[in-house]
Amino acid sequence: MPSPSQERSTMTVKESPEAAAKVLEHVMTGDDLPDDFSLLGREWTLHRGVFPGTLTAATEVMASIVPYPKGGSFLEVGCGTGVISVTAALHGSDVTALDINEKAVANTLANAERHGVEDRVRVLHSDLYAALEPTDRFDAIFWNVPWTYVEDGFPLSSDLHSAVFDPGYQGQSRFISGARDHLADGGRLLIGTADLGDRERIDAFAAEAGMTVEMLRRVRRIEVVRVMEYHLLELRAK
Ligand SMILES: C[S@@+](CC[C@H](N)C(=O)[O-])C[C@H]1O[C@@H](n2cnc3c(N)ncnc32)[C@H](O)[C@@H]1O
Repeated sequence: MPSPSQERSTMTVKESPEAAAKVLEHVMTGDDLPDDFSLLGREWTLHRGVFPGTLTAATEVMASIVPYPKGGSFLEVGCGTGVISVTAALHGSDVTALDINEKAVANTLANAERHGVEDRVRVLHSDLYAALEPTDRFDAIFWNVPWTYVEDGFPLSSDLHSAVFDPGYQGQSRFISGARDHLADGGRLLIGTADLGDRERIDAFAAEAGMTVEMLRRVRRIEVVRVMEYHLLELRAK
């Protein structure tokens, strides 16, 4: 999310939580928000309280570059409005979409129906992998993460805050450590993040889980205040 008060350190760009919270406030309460948005040549339903797929270019970028397993199974963690899950289904994947935000679950279902792929998109209300069966395995697992690092204990005062802030990067830590139990043999673990995210923490969590991190794609987009750089990372067993 662009912000005039970003601080750039030598390794990582940090985003001001206050600036991000200000944007969120409008996203939650603005009475000028549309109920639909256009992206990737399609119309999408937007429910209030769900991360809008046009807030940044992240959704469009990730939906366009994720290597969907054609004819295989795809798990999207944190599906939001469902753009990426529906796009995966349209590319021929058998999709499970989950989100901790119940409004996102309803929103993804609405968009799966809108695009005629409701038979190929299973949607679950779930904190990460909690609602999956222990036997569920996927050819690819992906999360367009809430990349803003805040200290542990930072209050997630709304569903939308969980879409943007990850206190202590605990969500990403659990995403990485729990993935092994749900990856099929040869399955791929993918993270959608940006230069505003904390890559060093992701690398450390991956190392703890016995994985390395590779930059799969790097996409730069000129946005309102700055040039954003989106990163698609792949985590592989060492
Ligand atoms: C940056 S948004 C991405 C939304 C959507 N995939 C997109 O690209 O537009 C991150 C999403 O992760 C969800 N999320 C955050 N923590 C989660 C958790 N512990 N388990 C499942 N989903 C979570 C948020 O509710 C939000 O929908």
